[in-house]
Amino acid sequence: MNHEDLYNKSIDVIIKNQHLSGAYIACPSFPSYNYSWFRDSSYIAYSMDLIENFKSSEQFHSWAVNNINKRETEIRRLMNGDMDNYEEVLHTRYQLNGHEGADSWENFQLDGFGVWLWSLYEHVQLSGRKITKEIEKAVELVSGYLSMLWQKPCYDCWEENRNEMHIYTLSCIYRGLKSSDSLLASNTFANTTSQIKKWILEEGVISGSLCKFKGNGAIDSSLLGVHFPNDVFGNKEAIMRKTVDRIHSELYKAGGLHRYAEDSYYGGGIWILLTAWLGIWFFDDGNPQAAEEILDWIGIKADKDGHLAEQYADSLNNSTFLPIWNKKWGESANPLLWSHAMYIILHKKLYPGI
Ligand code: BGC
Repeated sequence: MNHEDLYNKSIDVIIKNQHLSGAYIACPSFPSYNYSWFRDSSYIAYSMDLIENFKSSEQFHSWAVNNINKRETEIRRLMNGDMDNYEEVLHTRYQLNGHEGADSWENFQLDGFGVWLWSLYEHVQLSGRKITKEIEKAVELVSGYLSMLWQKPCYDCWEENRNEMHIYTLSCIYRGLKSSDSLLASNTFANTTSQIKKWILEEGVISGSLCKFKGNGAIDSSLLGVHFPNDVFGNKEAIMRKTVDRIHSELYKAGGLHRYAEDSYYGGGIWILLTAWLGIWFFDDGNPQAAEEILDWIGIKADKDGHLAEQYADSLNNSTFLPIWNKKWGESANPLLWSHAMYIILHKKLYPGI
């Protein structure tokens, strides 16, 4: 599909799948993804801010603020050091009405809340939205929560590896706390963010490149997030460069990017949102041509309805797992709103005037 059509279609898919409550559904046609994730939604809201659809991003952030403030008692309990039940606090995904899901899930994930603070900061910058008392309260709660828990192992952004400290997750917390300070014009987390950066440098680097999690030498495409949006290191810094070189040489196959080499979810295919993420890196690194090639490739992957799936079964890591997942949950999620959002973000980089 050509860029113009896919760009418009992507906006359409996002708007049509935003619930009246303000929540964005991760994927309408995939039952396990009939929820709103803070992670996915924060990127989706940012894409709406970029295209100046402030109504959409405003509704999402209001939904998020309400849902956080509603949980104030639990969050404060946790912030006061009562850690017994910390897994019960702040689920990673919610029903569209803001309630927690009934079925069990890998709920303890911290990255989405860090990314949400960043997305909210961008929203305020781009839309000029006033920071109300309610927003301020939600920002204080989430940043307090993250600053208390950043050293706790939790699931990664792929909802795996419960007992590890993940570099992408930490970069999101870093960026989230910086965003909180900017939003509230304070300096509360200056110390914590330096500690996080120091921790990443001391524990998250193997042979000059960032690694998936402490002590694990594998590379993971989510590390692109350390650059955008988290900006922990400038893109000229050797560490970021070496990380992206590894991502590119080990995980970029058949035109698209894998999550990580051992991934077996749906056989471990190539992901649209990650490939767009690499395109964003290329663009920021002064290589718009490579970014454009990625945009073209995504256009080829779109189906006749202009839908972008989560992943495609090209160059699978382990094809024996594809039929197993197809039998369990049906075809890979399509359309995935996060895929469309990352396409819009990349498109906006290349064609800011459209
Ligand atoms: C991914 C998560 C994502 C969720 C909803 C999962 O398969 O691992 O990163 O938030 O799908 O899109």
